[in-house]
Amino acid sequence: MKKLNKNTKFKHNIAIIPGDGIGPEVILASLKIIRKSLELDNIYIKEKYYPWGSTYYKKHKQMMPKDGLDKLKKHDAIFFGAVGDKNIDDDITLWGLRLEICQNLDQFANVRPSKYMEGINTPLNINIAKNIDWIIIRENSEGEYAGSGGIVHKDLPLEMGSELAIFTREGCRRIHEYAFKLASSRPQKHLTLITKSNAQRHGMKLWDKIFYEVSKKYPSVKVDKLLVDAATAVMVNNPEKLDVIVATNLHADILSDLASALTGSLGIGATANINTNKIYPSMFEPIHGSAFDIVGKEIANPIGAIWSGVLMLNYLGEYKSANRINKAIKIYAKNGGPFTPDLGGDAKTKDVVNKLLSILG
Ligand code: IPM
Ligand code: MG
Repeated sequence: MKKLNKNTKFKHNIAIIPGDGIGPEVILASLKIIRKSLELDNIYIKEKYYPWGSTYYKKHKQMMPKDGLDKLKKHDAIFFGAVGDKNIDDDITLWGLRLEICQNLDQFANVRPSKYMEGINTPLNINIAKNIDWIIIRENSEGEYAGSGGIVHKDLPLEMGSELAIFTREGCRRIHEYAFKLASSRPQKHLTLITKSNAQRHGMKLWDKIFYEVSKKYPSVKVDKLLVDAATAVMVNNPEKLDVIVATNLHADILSDLASALTGSLGIGATANINTNKIYPSMFEPIHGSAFDIVGKEIANPIGAIWSGVLMLNYLGEYKSANRINKAIKIYAKNGGPFTPDLGGDAKTKDVVNKLLSILG
């Protein structure tokens, strides 16, 4: 790898938050691939590391410093590992870092692609699995994760907790619009609305209504509607019936774990948290989370993080470098890995990285 010096011209300025659990392992591993592919195009990124997360919390009683968001706003993109700690409430770790970033930087569109990859074992029959080629668009700013609610009669026998799902007209419009735009750019031009408006009569009805309002602007996109419970069965039995899927924050959270598992492992799922106005940076992260059970064993699958890096490169306009990595992952999978234990192999994280580096050339 070429040595960087003070004359190196950096094209992109990336904030890196490795975070907790296996976050640092997969982020450092995937950056080797990202840097290498960019370097082949003579492009360099400036990496600024922020050591925020649960370790930081144990020392400072906050997950990131007060001016953390201001610091992040100066970057072109954020590359994020994972957050969560066995000894700290999820409430503190998640809301103090990841959700804090997503909400305050208005990263309202969460994009989660899932695609069958030849060579990777899936729990489905291969003839069914090969039809998986989906993009789940998750509403990322409100809905069930709006943070609205509270506790009344605290610690009394009458104690009551409420969790209010919030659906605003604009919140629904912008995510549906995003999903329609994306669907119209894909060969199938097919968008499925995921809902539960048969049981939930208010917010979910508004969610549906605005979907059909937005659909009028996109006559070329074929639309259909599935209840979220029924969608799980379609994903397992008839993956070809889905292309782009738009779902609320919680529904998409659940469906995207299923999607990732159906393509082989949670370890390969990737995410982009997008702010479409580009005033604030977007954030890219694997979906797997901290994975305490394997921390430090050096067997974390870096593919989810690498693929998230590919999403980041596309967002930065580095299509050539992104495609090169995509191709390398395909070759790696088709030729039998080596795979980490989550994919049935016994490879270490570094074995995957070394293989991909050698494919990149
Ligand atoms: C995800 C994760 C998070 C979520 C958790 C860690 C809060 O499951 O990104 O899918 O639900 O958003
Ligand atoms: Mg999830």
